[in-house]
Parts: sequence; structure tokens; C-alpha cells
Amino acid sequence: CGIVGYVGAQSALDVVIAGLKRLEYRGYDSAGVAVLADGGLAAAKKAGKLLNLEKELTDRPLPSGSTGIGHTRWATHGGPTDANAHPHLDNAGRVAVVHNGIIENFAALRAELAERGHDLASETDTEVVAHLLAEEFSSCGELAEAMRLVCRRLHGAFTLVAVHADEPDVVVGARRNSPLVVGVGDGEAFLASDVAAFIAHTRSAVELGQDQVVELRRDGVTVTDFDGAPADVRSYHVDWDLSAAEKGGYDYFMLKEIAEQPKAVADTLLGRIDEDGSLTLDEVRIPAAVLREAQKVVIVACGTAFHAGLIAKYAIEHWTRIPCEVELASEFRYRDPILDQRTLVVAISQSGETMDTLMALRHAREQGAKVLAICNTNGSTIPRESDAVLYTHAGPEVAVASTKAFLTQLVACYLVALYLGQVRGTKWGDEIRAVIRDLSQIATQVEQVLGTMEPVRELARSLARKNTVLFLGRHVGYPVALEGALKLKELAYMHAEGFAAGELKHGPIALIENDVPVVVVVPSPRSRSVLHDKIVSNIQEIRARGARTIVIAEEGDTAVETYADHLIRIPQTPALLQPMVATVPLQVFACELATARGNEVDQPRNLAKSVTVE
Ligand code: G6P
Repeated sequence: CGIVGYVGAQSALDVVIAGLKRLEYRGYDSAGVAVLADGGLAAAKKAGKLLNLEKELTDRPLPSGSTGIGHTRWATHGGPTDANAHPHLDNAGRVAVVHNGIIENFAALRAELAERGHDLASETDTEVVAHLLAEEFSSCGELAEAMRLVCRRLHGAFTLVAVHADEPDVVVGARRNSPLVVGVGDGEAFLASDVAAFIAHTRSAVELGQDQVVELRRDGVTVTDFDGAPADVRSYHVDWDLSAAEKGGYDYFMLKEIAEQPKAVADTLLGRIDEDGSLTLDEVRIPAAVLREAQKVVIVACGTAFHAGLIAKYAIEHWTRIPCEVELASEFRYRDPILDQRTLVVAISQSGETMDTLMALRHAREQGAKVLAICNTNGSTIPRESDAVLYTHAGPEVAVASTKAFLTQLVACYLVALYLGQVRGTKWGDEIRAVIRDLSQIATQVEQVLGTMEPVRELARSLARKNTVLFLGRHVGYPVALEGALKLKELAYMHAEGFAAGELKHGPIALIENDVPVVVVVPSPRSRSVLHDKIVSNIQEIRARGARTIVIAEEGDTAVETYADHLIRIPQTPALLQPMVATVPLQVFACELATARGNEVDQPRNLAKSVTVE
């Protein structure tokens, strides 16, 4: 969910709505706002996208005030209805609360409140907090203190932001295992799930730690723990470009983000390769000795980031000869994985807030493993809780389906693999140096691919009425196939599946029937000639059964021409780097197919960009 809070001299409603627009990618089932004005509290909320709320506010304007909060929701408890939308109020309508996360003991608290005569209007866990805050406030007379008292009684993960009509110049926030950042302006202050909500106003941000409560006033912020002890706060400067968080002439954020990939890739490499062609990853604060002694690498991630991890495995094992496992973060800790001080865990996350990934890394650290985060969001929870972090420099990614973040995650994974190789001095030294050289060409190659996408768009439009698209790959092309299928599921709501091409004959080939589109990612014939030949056979096998073959192959690969109904060319790269160029047409394909089917590209149904519940 997306949360915004504001206190200052501007119209709180304007600031909050503008902030919510930037956070809408975090959830868009419903939206709501509350402002303090004329000694009272006024609120509005609406199921559906933010636009519905804006319309409601035009039809029924709220009084203007300079303290307010807002929320866009990704439903957990209770369906996406007006009543379940945030903010939630107490019975007297003096307290308003917005919340992200899950309060696990809400049923017990709810029963307790009902016994004391409270009348709860929604099915949400959040409403319980509004009622508890109202009770505590009536005895202590201070919202921050009331928040601390309530938080001590809550189980689960939460970000809470509240206002009370009796303290009209105060916004209070609290966090446990869920994101919340503070923005400090001149005579004003902000609270939000991420800095995108307030960078138009201030670039000065403060991180909130675990189990902390913050009180916002115009002249400053006070942070304490849940017991009221003052907390140390770390301020930082946000250097994200504001225009990067806007569409800049594109119809969708996704199109813009696809187009930004060459820059994102180049920025992620910037300053990390020396003139002599070796790597300097200053950020990797894990001592070289620890990296040298690591006996196993375990990568944990979710969604698209997981696919980056699958590709990293090929690179890490090949260049470093360290065994590497890749696991969905949501599965990891529950199977009691074997970890110790000689395990290097790599947690990959664009947002740095994905709860599954966060829980996996905490488990890893508890077992003594060192954790390196690969993350795109400065100051987010995952890098803060890791031993070291390698930031990707994709800039803000707003479209829910990840594109530029994925490519930069791949770059970061290659850098980690190469760095491990460099530190450990493997026999692949020459290859590593060559790959480092090739990596610096990759941004230009991504640019080349982007310049040749019109036929891919045309093809996507022609397939808009299909029900199924299959994806095949071998070696690193296999995770690329999985990513191509995921993009199509997310955006086009089609049945799409990725398979290892060799596995086809063991089952999936039964799915092939006349005119089923099958996208095949073909390895380079230069460095992977055995695999290349094998996949050419696979293409023949499916074509013989009626499949419509869409072949992604390197420039100069003539062997595939006879078997390709549609041929998409990508530049020649070293085998392990091919996903950097092969993924791009699949992103464009999914985006265009979704548009042709009339779907919302940036905000696909049921999804959220940053999933902060397990
Ligand atoms: C969500 C998004 C996906 C994303 C995944 C992991 O499910 O919809 O696009 O890949 O989370 O997100 P992260 O921020 O951890 O990379």
C-alpha cells in the first residue's frame, strides 16, 4: 500500500493527493484521505483507482486544512470496497488512521473493543487501531504517546500513520517491518512509503528504524522507540531526479522504463570498472577474506528479481566454481536451509521492501550467513538489514512489471560474480577480463535492440486474441523464457509458460497444437554450439506439430532462418550476457500485447509493485 502524511503551510489535500499519485503503483484497489480543518476531521475514500477518489473530492469537496494523511490500498483483510478503504476512523470521528501491513492479533483486539462498546464498521485490521488510538488518546492526551501504547499491543507487520482532531498540527507515524520514510522541508514535514511521494517538495529524508514512532510538526520531527526513548536518526539526501518519476512524454511508465534501459545499465556500471579493467566494488564491505572462503552462494528473491537470480547462478558457478543455489524467498526459510558463516546470501530486490525477501535475509543472518543485497532503493529496509549492498542505478521504477530494474539486477549479478572471481583468483581470469570489457558495450547493444522493435510490436498486436503463448530457452535462455512468460501473465493476463527447451519432450510438448505461438530464445552458435544445435532441433520438433515459432536469435545465426515463422534479431554477446539483450524484445512484446488487449499496462489487475506482506 502507499501512504502519505503532511503537515505544513500548503493545502494538505493537494500535497497528499499528489504524493499518492506517485505511490499508486504500490496498490490501487482503493484510496482515501483525511484532513484536519476547522477543529474537526474530514475524510473521503473510494474503491478503485485514485481517479475515483479525485472525482469524489470534486463532487463533495473537503474543507481545506494543512494537516492530512492519505492511502492507496492493496487489499489484504477485506475486499476492495469503499468501507474497507483507508483511512479508518474511531466512532467519534476524531482519529483517522492509514495502515500498510497485517496486524496478526486484530481479531482478539477487535473482540475486546466490541466488548467495551465500540462499533466497528469495516472488516479490516486497521479500524481496530483507530479505536485503540482514540481510547489511549482520551487518557494520555497526546497522539504520539497513544501510538506508542497501541503499537506495543500489536503483533505483525505495520506502518501506521494517524492524525487526531485534538492535535491539529501533528501527524504521527509508526513502523515495524514495513516501509516508512520522513521528508523534512522548510516549515513542513512529510511521511511516505517511499521518497517518490515528496521529492517534489524536499530532498532531505530521514530513515525510520524498526519499531519506531515519529511525530511530525511543522518545525521538525521527533523519533522515539515504542517505549518513548529518543532514537538516533539518520538523515540522507535523495538524489533521484524528479523527472525520472514522471512519464516524460510516454503513454505509460513501462514504455519509458523500457526505453531508459541503456542508461540504467550504463549508470549501474558507472565507476565500478577501473581503467585497467578490474572491478572496484567499494560498497561490498564484506571482507575479501570472507568472500574467498565462501563455500556456497544462495540467492533469494521474488518475481522478476528471482529470474535475475536464476541467471546469476550460471555466471557465479561458471566464473567462480562456487556452488550457487537460487530460491524463491517465500520458500526459503520454511524448509530449514543449511547455512553458516561460509555461506554468502545474495538478496535481490528492486524495492528493498519485499517482505518475503526481507524475512529470508533475516533468517540467513540469524544462521550466521553474510548477506549482500542487490537493491534499487536507497535507504530501504533490505539493504539496511544486510551486511553489504550493491545498488542498482535504474532510478525510480514505477510500472508494476519490472523492466529496467531487471536489467540492472543482471548487471549487478554479473558484477558480483566477476568480483567473486576476481577476489578468489580463478583460472577464468582472462575470460573475466574479457567479459568486463564486453559488459561496457552492453548498454549500446540494448539501445540497438530498442531501435528494432517495430516488427515485435506488430507481431504482438497480431497475437492479441490468442489464449496461450509458450516460451522456451536453454542455459541462461531458460530464465529469460520464464521472465518472458511472467511479463505476459502480469500484463496481458494470458496463459503463458516458460520451459527449459530440453524438458519439452518430457511433458510440455503435449501443449503444442496448431498455431500456438512459441517464443524460443536461441543461444549463440559461436560459444554454445552444442546447445545451439539442440535448440534448433527443438524448434523443428514443435514446428512439426503446428507451433508458430517466434525465434530470438543472434545476428548472423543463419541456421534458424528456415524454422522461424518470425525472427527477432539480437546483437552478438558473450553467452552469459545474452539475457541482457534477449529480454528486451520480450518486454516490448508483453507491453504491446497488453495494450492491444486494452489492459492497464502500468497497473495490472491484482498486482502491486512492492509487496510488503508475506
Ligand atoms: C512484486 C512485483 C514484481 C517484482 C516482485 C519483487 O511481486 O509485482 O514485479 O518482481 O514483487 O519485487 P522486488 O521489489 O523485491 O524486486
